[in-house]
Amino acid sequence: MAQSACKYNHIFSFSKGLFHVLRKDITLKIDVYAIYLGSEWKKAYDLYHGSKKNNVIMDNQNFGMPRIGEPAPEFTANTTRGKINFPADYAGKWIILFSHPADFTPVCTSEFMTFGSMQAGFEKLNCQLVGLSIDGLASHIAWLREIRNIEWKEFKNIDVEFPLIEDISMNVARKYGMLQPGESETKAVRAVFFIDPAGVVRAMIYYPLSLGRNFDELRRVLIALQTTDNFRVSMPADWRPGDPVIVPAPSTMDALKKRDAGEEGDIACHAWWFCTRKLPKEEVESKLGKQ
Ligand code: BEZ
Repeated sequence: MAQSACKYNHIFSFSKGLFHVLRKDITLKIDVYAIYLGSEWKKAYDLYHGSKKNNVIMDNQNFGMPRIGEPAPEFTANTTRGKINFPADYAGKWIILFSHPADFTPVCTSEFMTFGSMQAGFEKLNCQLVGLSIDGLASHIAWLREIRNIEWKEFKNIDVEFPLIEDISMNVARKYGMLQPGESETKAVRAVFFIDPAGVVRAMIYYPLSLGRNFDELRRVLIALQTTDNFRVSMPADWRPGDPVIVPAPSTMDALKKRDAGEEGDIACHAWWFCTRKLPKEEVESKLGKQ
């Protein structure tokens, strides 16, 4: 104890931020830190966190992570609707590609029933749903058949018509950062990728195994992305169709002068760089799904 008290004092004097990290890990790795006192504290930290990383299956060579604004990683795969060539088969459409941890599990079942009930709505938005888990086709098919017989909330007789990828090899899960070994080494997390009609990743959301997704939010994100493209505007926090949208900030002194002189029409400014305009819900909706 005397040693750790001494160590605490020492670390405290170096960095308050590090102190917090060390406190969190102290029960596990007090020995490592106790050896590396004084100016060696950083080595101790790297040693511990490095060894922790080596214990899991993730390494940078085998695991990718898509990035917003870049082309969606390509793959071919078997699905419950036949073979697909992704994203080429869906060129001209928006895609929501999502992973789930495992077939025949309750949270995933609730999600598939919700997605299944919303698929016609996504089609109207020119959006194709594509699911994935690290299970085989036979399991997928058996699970989807069973889902038809399950009743939950207002849902029953749900036919899941969108393709569900079998990814036993984890080829796709690896490319899309769906495997996050700190959460599970054998199951994909609940990842969601929004891919635009040109095959570019536009948004990503990751959820842990224990939490079912918010499907209103998934729909809201898709609508917001399409509205950004249709009207060249941004959306403030919690935006929903019908709410004011953000107009671009002036990029020249002349444009700023116009803004200051109120020459830009009906906009409301909270700061010269934070102005909104009305965008009626009907106008938003008239362009959805038209890309
Ligand atoms: C589920 O969908 O219920 C679930 C799947 C994997 C881990 C935990 C929960």
